[in-house]
Amino acid sequence: MSFIKVTPEYRPQIALIELNRPKELNALNLELMGQLRDALQELDKNDTIRVIILTGNEKAFAAGADIKQMAGKSAIDMLNIDQFSTWDQIRKTRKPLIAAVSGFALGGGCELAMTCDMIVASETAKFGQPEIKIGVMPGAGGTQRLTRAIGKARAMEMVLTGEFISAYEAKAYGLVNKVVPVEVYLEEAVRLAQKIAAMSPIAARLAKEAVNRAFETHLDEGLHFERKNFYLTFASEDQKEGMQAFIEKRQPKYKGK
Ligand code: CAA
Repeated sequence: MSFIKVTPEYRPQIALIELNRPKELNALNLELMGQLRDALQELDKNDTIRVIILTGNEKAFAAGADIKQMAGKSAIDMLNIDQFSTWDQIRKTRKPLIAAVSGFALGGGCELAMTCDMIVASETAKFGQPEIKIGVMPGAGGTQRLTRAIGKARAMEMVLTGEFISAYEAKAYGLVNKVVPVEVYLEEAVRLAQKIAAMSPIAARLAKEAVNRAFETHLDEGLHFERKNFYLTFASEDQKEGMQAFIEKRQPKYKGK
């Protein structure tokens, strides 16, 4: 079963990857992430492609990691599944990667958008790290990338309250590059991709590497720390309660245990 749709020649030199689990708001299960990694690696090797656009649908870019897939897992299960090694490979995509975001970009969805090099958002986009509401915390780079992108105070508020920000707030905070009406967000991403595709692909690759180098200095330690703490939340009763409450569509009762 395919959870993504890949159009290598969406436009000349521009590939499009669409996340395609609409009923689950593109929740990022392990299979989807594996398919996304494979598609990106394939497109990275394809000399006719210069820029890749990653999108969801109007209602959701992605509503986060798949809670139903994670809910019953232990900390050691999570450690063994090692889902974030796939994310590390995605992070190594060499070609410029643009996220075209409409609707929900939450939890892992927000983290996936931030893993891309630039974000074009529709006016309806909502960004958030609501993991705290289900008894866990961001695990795919949220505490690190969001903090670097929008600063400590705003990131802390988003991560500790789980509240969403609008597309215009995200633009004002420097998280997204452009905000446009929902009817044209994909076209706007294409326009940006076309500008980049017109540049030397070698220069683009080297420039991307250089920008990321600046961004990632001292990041590894933070990601490592975050990951361990993310796994550790799976040792708590509150994680089980939070995820179970989500699935049963009720309010969670946290014990702080
Ligand atoms: N995982 C699994 N299923 C999800 C999901 C997720 N992250 N998000 C939505 N869904 C499912 C819902 O369970 C629902 O399925 P059913 O119809 O089978 O019940 C379907 O998608 C539609 O969702 P809703 O009915 O909830 O839609 P809504 O419009 O009322 O609400 C929403 C939308 C506010 C995004 C809400 O779905 C929501 O809060 N989702 C969870 C967001 C979240 O907590 N994300 C973080 C996940 S943890 C994470 O990402 C960890 C990490 O750092 C890697």
